[in-house]
Amino acid sequence: MAPDESIYDVLVIGSGAAGLSLTLHLAGRTRIALLCKGELKETSTYYAQGGVAAVLDDKDSTESHLQDTLEAGAGLCREDVVRHVVENAKPAVQKLIDYGVDFSRRERSDGTLEFHLTREGGHSHRRVLHVSDATGEAIESTLEEQVKAAPDVSVFTHHTAIDVVMDRSGSKPRCVGAYALDNEAGRVRLFRARYVVLATGGSSKVYLYTSNPDGTTGDGVAMAWRAGCRVENMEFLQFHPTCLYHPLAKSFLITEAVRGEGGHLLLPDGSRFMDRFHPMAELAPRDVVARAIDFEMKRLGVDCLHLDISHQPEDFVIGHFPTIYRRCLQFGIDITKQPIPVVPAAHYTCGGVKVDMHGRTDVDGLYAIGEVSSTGLHGANRMASNSLLECLVFADAAARDIAVRLPDAPIPPDMPRWDESRVTDSDEEVVISHNWEELRRFMWDYVGIVRTTKRLERAKRRVDMLLTEIDEYYGNFRVTRDLLELRDLATVADLIIRSAMARKESRGLHYSLDHPEADTSTPPRDTILAR
Ligand code: FAD
Ligand code: SIN
Repeated sequence: MAPDESIYDVLVIGSGAAGLSLTLHLAGRTRIALLCKGELKETSTYYAQGGVAAVLDDKDSTESHLQDTLEAGAGLCREDVVRHVVENAKPAVQKLIDYGVDFSRRERSDGTLEFHLTREGGHSHRRVLHVSDATGEAIESTLEEQVKAAPDVSVFTHHTAIDVVMDRSGSKPRCVGAYALDNEAGRVRLFRARYVVLATGGSSKVYLYTSNPDGTTGDGVAMAWRAGCRVENMEFLQFHPTCLYHPLAKSFLITEAVRGEGGHLLLPDGSRFMDRFHPMAELAPRDVVARAIDFEMKRLGVDCLHLDISHQPEDFVIGHFPTIYRRCLQFGIDITKQPIPVVPAAHYTCGGVKVDMHGRTDVDGLYAIGEVSSTGLHGANRMASNSLLECLVFADAAARDIAVRLPDAPIPPDMPRWDESRVTDSDEEVVISHNWEELRRFMWDYVGIVRTTKRLERAKRRVDMLLTEIDEYYGNFRVTRDLLELRDLATVADLIIRSAMARKESRGLHYSLDHPEADTSTPPRDTILAR
């Protein structure tokens, strides 16, 4: 069968923790195609440092994990979802251990070993399992190995999904596959499938400074939106408080676990300041810490603040944070002796494609799992290390749902091939690079950590112009990965701005100087956009 005509049971778009876990749950029972934009490991998952939250300590409880998550979510978490996730954390982590992830351990007083649990912002207990400070690399590599060995899984690296394909011939529209650009061959393929799963990660690349790798351009949200799905809570974009500040470091993350293990945030004069902003000081929820740093940087007119762990013993620091130690040393910073220069950067997309408890979207045949989705777990602010957990728990839920429904799912009908008869090669690639830069800069300046109505209106005018220009370009020229990503980034920027404009209060990650308080006159509400 020619590749253009392949039909699969399940098309999984994305090879991070969400996509790989779902693939492994279904492998052996179904015929799967797995697509990703670059190499398998080019994911946010790979770069995760802190770890996975799960209750393993006798002094901790799932009730406490639930309460902490609700507290961080500032009134917008769905309690049933949070309960489902925290109660399934232990089996989800056990599955990773069974696959071969070797979480860090420590010696008990009787000489036996137990998992070492670290602490991060918002958590009232130590409950974060980790593989030193390179947890994501261990998870991604382990899952990748398993997927490569799994039966009936066809992996298509360097394929950029463009849009899902909709069959609108029946009484209800149904997703029956996707078009994807083979980046290397430069041609567009049609992948037909009985179910399509978006596991495409977040949208943080829409900001100039981000902890995320290059591919996090919100493609899944944009594709689902164009297909007719509702999109929820996009104004809640999380800024991580501490990314390394260095011209060559490209927003390398300094894990929150550094603060969990005693790190202090310092002003230029060497004094601590976080206790002025929150009783939990350095371990306050992330939105509070990021805003406090932003506030102090603006107040003092400085380019960065500092995070100091050098008061801890040298072997403790190197033992816990070997990756950060090595990386900082490359830039001439010895973290065992010096404070680390840090700034906030866009980190995590709390909102996304609205889904139910099984990861089903509004469109038949289409699922969304992982960071692309909005499940109700994070509400207005995600608690650290709940994201990898959500990927695992919802991959399991969606896989079970698909397995049950597969026998009754229709065979996807024949669909039109991609039509390139009216397009030519781009004559001016500079338009794409210029618009990329412009978009990410105005999002940073006008739709960042602190917002105002006027700044949002400015951003809206600019994104409207860009959308028109990009649309024209898209209609006339052959698609490339850069053009597709720009188109999706602009769509996502527009959704973020519209959501932010709709929220006339400050809550969680959305902070507006024009509405600095939470609106207590009505119950907290989600921002839901529909086409
Ligand atoms: P990703 O892992 O981002 O994978 C996305 C996949 O989708 C990639 O394979 C990509 O190629 C593919 N894709 C995207 N668009 C397309 C397209 N158009 N066509 C084809 N393929 C496409 N969370 C925690 O819980 N704990 C942590 O310690 C932690 N640390 C973090 C540290 C860093 C530096 C970062 C960036 C994030 C961290 N997070 C952490 C967040 C967490 O890593 C992510 O939310 C999570 O890994 C997302 O997983 P995912 O499977 O949804 O997407
Ligand atoms: C970190 O290690 O600080 C990131 C954790 C997360 O984003 O959950």
